[in-house]
Amino acid sequence: MYYIGIDLGTSAVKLLLVTETGKIVGSVTREYPLSFPQPGWSEQSPADWWNAVTDGVRELTAGIDKSAVRAIGCGGQMHGLVALDEADNVIRPAILWNDGRTDAEVEYLNGGIGKDVLSARTANIAFAGFTAPKLLWMRNNEPENFAKIARIMLPKDYINYRLTGVHSCDYSDASGMLLLDVKNKRWSQEMLAVCGMTEAQMPRLFESYDVTGTLLPDVAETLGLSPAVKVVAGAGDNAAAAIGTGTVTDGACNISLGTSGTIFIASDRFGVDPFNALHAFAHANGRYHLMGCILSAASCNKWFCDEVLKTKDYAAEQVPITDEKLGRNRVFFLPYLMGERSPINDTNARGTFTGLSMDTTRADMVQAVLEGVAFAVRDCFEVAKSLGIPIESSKLCGGGAKSPLWRRIVANVLNIRLEIPQAEEGPGFGGAMLAMVGDGAYPDVKACADALVFTAKTVSPDPAIAARYEAQYQKYRTLYPALKDAFRAMR
Ligand code: XUL
Repeated sequence: MYYIGIDLGTSAVKLLLVTETGKIVGSVTREYPLSFPQPGWSEQSPADWWNAVTDGVRELTAGIDKSAVRAIGCGGQMHGLVALDEADNVIRPAILWNDGRTDAEVEYLNGGIGKDVLSARTANIAFAGFTAPKLLWMRNNEPENFAKIARIMLPKDYINYRLTGVHSCDYSDASGMLLLDVKNKRWSQEMLAVCGMTEAQMPRLFESYDVTGTLLPDVAETLGLSPAVKVVAGAGDNAAAAIGTGTVTDGACNISLGTSGTIFIASDRFGVDPFNALHAFAHANGRYHLMGCILSAASCNKWFCDEVLKTKDYAAEQVPITDEKLGRNRVFFLPYLMGERSPINDTNARGTFTGLSMDTTRADMVQAVLEGVAFAVRDCFEVAKSLGIPIESSKLCGGGAKSPLWRRIVANVLNIRLEIPQAEEGPGFGGAMLAMVGDGAYPDVKACADALVFTAKTVSPDPAIAARYEAQYQKYRTLYPALKDAFRAMR
């Protein structure tokens, strides 16, 4: 039996073909464009996602017994606003999770309505990338488009809708809209009213492993699959990645170094960060989690190598960075290339190199980029620690986790043990696992994770390097407060 896991990311969709025993028998990646129509804005075309998914599924299943494909599960980039009109046509390009245009709307929500009120209604406060501020932005800036909205959904829900014809959303992804009463798992009527929306415009809510429908006959024909293939509700990519790395028990932690960087702490019980620096969201296993999200992680290294150094050979750039150099860099990098979400919530923040001198090398700057991302993850980790959450180890996944050097840097900056799962394709593998549970191959997510997720490698901190990084982190921490006003003045 085969299951298809889809990771609908920001730079590409990654599709996995997985057997019920967890063997990955095929994988296909299709890239699509990302547009930045104005500084700090970030948009994508849902049609590009759909074309990439359908082409990708056809390539993935070419040459296999297609009748053995049982179910599809998608993990998708979170928070993006997909707005459909009465005829279910897309009204405007999707506004993505890393878009920072909603300063005024965030100010209105957090300042005007009030953080306490938002937190009581949704367990969260407003961040620029969340969906509710985007709706308000559309209402304020594109009233003719806003008036056309018959339905809104999140990126992976658009794929699920095109596959099945069902307007669905799962609780983990819905949590990031600021429209869900996360604790009680229902749309918040008050928040819908604030955004000028009604429940009729919202997708139907499901658990991530619930089957929402089967393939529409014409879609099944185009894909060459049976119309009996089931589609599960899926999850936000971080919750899907947590499933894929087996982060399903109370207190378990997963760190993802993808386009964004996240630290995800699973919890059996609903709980809110009293400072709202960490998001309090539903998990794809039916429970909850806390999460910190930095907006630029592996994307910082990609930007520095691709755009500045003009190389695609990331590994070669890391060769000169020996253990001897770790924790001794005089160059620091703030990774705020798209502003920052957790914990500083500042759309004005920008990337900086500090500490350059005439003897600074190319490798020092590459190292600073990798370290800056690790320090930013540590900022979120510190918030979790301040809430009394003990984290002694974490899974690590995402593109950045492929670099042995970056793994060592993260393990030492956080001073915790990192476990690298056998299948590092977190969200895609998690999506396939949710499909297996929906199809009945496993009774629940935990049983599926116990059977399919294994640690391939463990990276432990080195006491001497971790001590050096502790001192470096204390220096790093002084940079943002010193630059905050300058960032605002430079906007
Ligand atoms: C999480 C977040 C990002 C995106 C990346 O809150 O915004 O991790 O989900 O795809």
